[in-house]
Amino acid sequence: MAKAAVGSGLLLLREQCRRCAHREGAEGKWGLQSICSPSRFCSTRITLDDINKPVIDRIIRVDHAGEYGANRIYAGQMAVLSRSSVGPVIRQMWDQEKDHLKKMKELVILYRVRPTVLLPLWNIAGFMLGVGTALLGKQAAMACTVAVEESIAVHYNNQIRTLLEEDPEKYKELLE
Ligand SMILES: [Fe+2]
Repeated sequence: MAKAAVGSGLLLLREQCRRCAHREGAEGKWGLQSICSPSRFCSTRITLDDINKPVIDRIIRVDHAGEYGANRIYAGQMAVLSRSSVGPVIRQMWDQEKDHLKKMKELVILYRVRPTVLLPLWNIAGFMLGVGTALLGKQAAMACTVAVEESIAVHYNNQIRTLLEEDPEKYKELLE
C-alpha cells in the first residue's frame, strides 16, 4: 500500500481521511482550506498535538451533552404543547437546537471526544423536564426555555473566555 501511495499521494491521503468523515466541499461550508493528511483533521489545519486536548475534550463533551439535553427538553414540551398556540414557537426553537446538536456531533468526531456516559440520563431527565414544565402551562414552558437559554449563554461566554486565553488563532473553528 505504501509503494502504491508514492505515485498517488493525494489518493492515499484522501483514503486515510475517511476516518474523520471528510466530505467533498466541506471546506466550502466552513470556509477553511482542506488539508488532507494522516495526522491532520481534514477541514482545518489543526492537529491533535497542537491543541490542549483535555480542555477541548471537556468543552466539547459538556456542550454536546447540553445541546442533547436541550433537544430532549423541547421534545418533551412538544409532546404536550405541539397543538397549542406556542407549538410553532417551540418547534422553531427545537429546530435551532437540532442544528446545534448536529454541529456538536461533528465536533465530537472531528476532535475525537468521548461523549459523556450520562447521555441516557439527559435523555430521560431532559424529556421529563420538558413535559413537566409544559404541563404547568405555556408560561412555565417558555420560562423554562428562557432560563435554559440564559444559562447556556453564560456557559458559552465562559468557554469563549477560556479559548481566548488559550490561543484564539488555534481555536478559531471552535470560536466560530
Ligand atoms: Fe443550543
